[in-house]
Amino acid sequence: MSKSKSSHIKVSQRYISERASTLPPSGIRKFFDLLSSVEGVISLGVGEPDFVTPWHICEAAIYSLEKGYTMYTSNKGTPELRAELARHLEYRFGLTYNPDDEILITVGVSEGLDLAMRAILNPGDEVIMPDPCYVAYPAAVSLAGGTPVLVPTIEENNFEITADDIEPRITRKTKAILIGYPCNPTGAVLTKEELTQIAELAKRYNLLVISDEVYGRLVYGTEHTCLATLPGMRERTILLNGFSKAYAMTGWRIGYAAGNGEIIGAMTKIHQYTLLCASIMGQMAALEALKADDSEVDAMVRDYDRRRRVMVKGFRDIGLSCFEPKGAFYAFPCIKITGMTSEEFAEKLLMEEKVAVVPGSAFGQCGEGYIRCCYATSLPEIEEALKRMGEFIKRHPKT
Ligand SMILES: Cc1ncc(COP(=O)(O)O)c(C=O)c1O
Repeated sequence: MSKSKSSHIKVSQRYISERASTLPPSGIRKFFDLLSSVEGVISLGVGEPDFVTPWHICEAAIYSLEKGYTMYTSNKGTPELRAELARHLEYRFGLTYNPDDEILITVGVSEGLDLAMRAILNPGDEVIMPDPCYVAYPAAVSLAGGTPVLVPTIEENNFEITADDIEPRITRKTKAILIGYPCNPTGAVLTKEELTQIAELAKRYNLLVISDEVYGRLVYGTEHTCLATLPGMRERTILLNGFSKAYAMTGWRIGYAAGNGEIIGAMTKIHQYTLLCASIMGQMAALEALKADDSEVDAMVRDYDRRRRVMVKGFRDIGLSCFEPKGAFYAFPCIKITGMTSEEFAEKLLMEEKVAVVPGSAFGQCGEGYIRCCYATSLPEIEEALKRMGEFIKRHPKT
């Protein structure tokens, strides 16, 4: 080992905090590092819309720059955006939030999630969540000093987390349940009845629920139930949502948290010392997105639905069983018939057929044996990817 390499290792051991060094690297990131070394890949990997942000939204942001809006905003976000969000939540769900102290504009749902955890957790507090789940959930809990408690969800049960599965995992240290439906990576949606049972449990054990509803607008042939609308849940729900997925605005980095004023106040304190505020340009764009009618979002949803059907049917036609996703923009086919692990499958598929998917195991142990495929990709690309995957499966019968 060269001298510089050994001294580098010593430095990292000395300076990197235990919290950072014990955090596992994201299984998605690891895979995308590999992807960047292969050319001409069809990617079903990245979880973001292939649409560009609607032009009137971009224009509103450009116009705001022309008018000189280039400064900090209030820590909480602009009063106009908070007021519009309050109107939006009232109109969509009949929920009343005071824009002065019950709504906080965040840098995407990502920041909202981090703030929520840091605002509510003491060291060792437990947060219950489904497995598989979005990669940031366990990490956000661990980074805030808490302990993630995973509840296995399985294909046979439509990847739904149930109150019956949650209850035995509640301990004296349980502070909250963290759910995100429609679900990344499975596309599962919970019905109002299922959510009601989870809500009843939360009330019985006096728990908070953090509900990540970033895919709430992207549902197909079913309804999305906003958790905070269920009886008695407005006060114990931290509602997280944002503009990334529904409005094709991932790069603008705007989200929001709505909930009990004291909790939102605690989150705002942390936000003001760390991020200060979300970007003013993004907030101007988000305001325009909210003011427009639903036609553009609806058109994108119809388009995703078409692609969803093609992808699910395509997987079944090539011999992979595929649970029907009812929300978000992911299919989660089972690859166990190949005898490969998710990671082996994804790596070989990338190298041999130049199709990128994410190993299901990146989202938790229960994702092993599955791959996540994003259908926010053009139809011709989805069709070509399915053709290549069909060849791949024929070439790799289970040994
Ligand atoms: C379930 C879920 N929550 C949150 C996020 C992050 O959203 P944002 O872009 O608003 O930070 C993602 C991104 O993929 C996601 O899948």
